[in-house]
Amino acid sequence: MQTTEKYDRVARFLHWLIVLLVCAQFVLGWTMPDVHRDTRPVGLISAHIVVGTALLAAMLCRLAWRLTHRPPPADISRLLRIVSSLTQFALYALLLIVPLLGWINASSRGWAVTLLYAIPLPGLSPAGSTFGHEMGDVHGVLAWALFAFICLHIVGAMMHFFVFRDRIAQRMAPW
Ligand code: HEM
Repeated sequence: MQTTEKYDRVARFLHWLIVLLVCAQFVLGWTMPDVHRDTRPVGLISAHIVVGTALLAAMLCRLAWRLTHRPPPADISRLLRIVSSLTQFALYALLLIVPLLGWINASSRGWAVTLLYAIPLPGLSPAGSTFGHEMGDVHGVLAWALFAFICLHIVGAMMHFFVFRDRIAQRMAPW
């Protein structure tokens, strides 16, 4: 059977908004200066924090939408369904956990965290907290895990598009 029904407009908008924010966030994370004890959150580091909190807000909207709206039907094998569900679960989990760990780390450095430089957000760990500093390392490691799952997700979408030609990938087309 050929699947033609698409995700709704809101789901597609949030998906591609998050793709843009995640791309920007990896570029910023890997090009910003190394963070040390006396580093100030300016320039690329400040941009990393503001893009990261916007990403977290977009992910919370996406999670709320996903929990209240059914995805369009997908006629795929049981094995593919299990692999894609596990990958998608890992993506949702990491896209929530990685920014939260970054926020915890920023708070432990005594940095102010805002949403879009406009709405101040509460600190998630006390300034100087050892736990908060350690979460900075976990943040960096899990960012790599997120990167791996994103690659897997893209390979899956390409397989549907070029190999299976079953129109599963087109359900999330931006147009
Ligand atoms: C999905 C969202 C995010 C991704 C993919 C991401 C990715 C990264 C990456 C790749 C690094 C460099 C790690 C390293 O060099 O070892 C990093 C560092 C950092 N990020 Fe993020 N980040 C995200 C969200 C956030 C948010 C929301 C905040 C703060 C509110 C934040 C704060 C930080 C800080 C403070 C560091 C330096 C950590 C340290 O060196 O101790 N990040 N991030």
